[in-house]
Amino acid sequence: MDTSALKKELVDLVRAANDMTTLEGVRVTALGKKGRITDLMKTLGALSPDERKLVGAELNVLKDEISDLIEKQALELKKQELDARLANEELDVTLSVRPNRKGSIHPISQTMDELVSIFAEMGFSVAEGPDIEDDFHNFTALNFPIGHPAREMHDTFYLPMDERETGESQKKLLRTHTSTVQIRHMMKNKPPIRMICFGRCYRSDWDMTHTPVFHQMEALYIDKNVTMGHLKGCLSDFVKSFFGIDDLPVRFRPSFFPFTEPGAEVDIGYWKENGELRLGKAPKPENQKWLEILGSGMVHPNVISSCGLDPKEYQGFAFGMGLERATMLKYGIPDLRSFFESDTRWLSHYGFDPLNRPNRATR
Ligand code: DAH
Repeated sequence: MDTSALKKELVDLVRAANDMTTLEGVRVTALGKKGRITDLMKTLGALSPDERKLVGAELNVLKDEISDLIEKQALELKKQELDARLANEELDVTLSVRPNRKGSIHPISQTMDELVSIFAEMGFSVAEGPDIEDDFHNFTALNFPIGHPAREMHDTFYLPMDERETGESQKKLLRTHTSTVQIRHMMKNKPPIRMICFGRCYRSDWDMTHTPVFHQMEALYIDKNVTMGHLKGCLSDFVKSFFGIDDLPVRFRPSFFPFTEPGAEVDIGYWKENGELRLGKAPKPENQKWLEILGSGMVHPNVISSCGLDPKEYQGFAFGMGLERATMLKYGIPDLRSFFESDTRWLSHYGFDPLNRPNRATR
């Protein structure tokens, strides 16, 4: 049998195939189940043993040659395809990147970071307490006796009673102020105590200046021989530093809180320029106005003793401040409710750079 004509024909077909689909077609024509070489293989059975040996060997060689050639051609076609893509698909690496919106720090978080940085410098450390409290820590231990009218002013959210709760003191509630942390901290730590704490507080109230959830900061200083002078010095330094105004007028006004004796509210000075509020000392004294910024006082002896300390040995001062109000004043944010709306436009306008955090040590 002469296979050279067939070989030439198949080799030409393989060489002429210039894409993978055509090449696969050639493979089927030559080597497929009904291919040309396969058909010839099928005729071997009709030959005499001697002839079969000879022709069989020849066909096997042809089969191997053709399939090697197809493989080589396939590699060549793939290489050509890749070269063509490399030549065509250009990537312009000089294009500028798409603008990537950076997240921002919420003004309340910014204020907390600033406060930590101011008070850390004065030697205070940061404590925490739970949002779900009991009547004891929110009221009784803070010298609000059961039935005291000051309790009513807090518009407390109570939680449903649990059958394990037996007395009034165990009633669960959402804390109405962070003063609860004073109690928890004094019960666990020995004086001298210098702590600040931040937290969410809850009161059933909703209007232009009140939201049912808001943030407070609490500070507590307990040691021997602490006086009102320490309170005044610490607080006036603090408000000047927080608002960044060295000659900010600060006024202490007598006030009442069940857990202080005496109690004082702290006001800071402002004045109006073309109808706009300006914090600081008014150019003319008769234009000086005052804004209440926080509540403070000497810790009531009853509070100190309800935490297991002897009020004759230890005294201290404390204060509590609403963070939304302080932040609104410092950064000129007009609406309290916007703090809780998670509006990204508001956040990108009033938010702060996450890569530039307050840190007095590096200032
Ligand atoms: N807890 C008070 C409030 O929510 C604020 C306050 C007043 C805290 C006087 C104090 C303080 O620590 O001494 O209105």
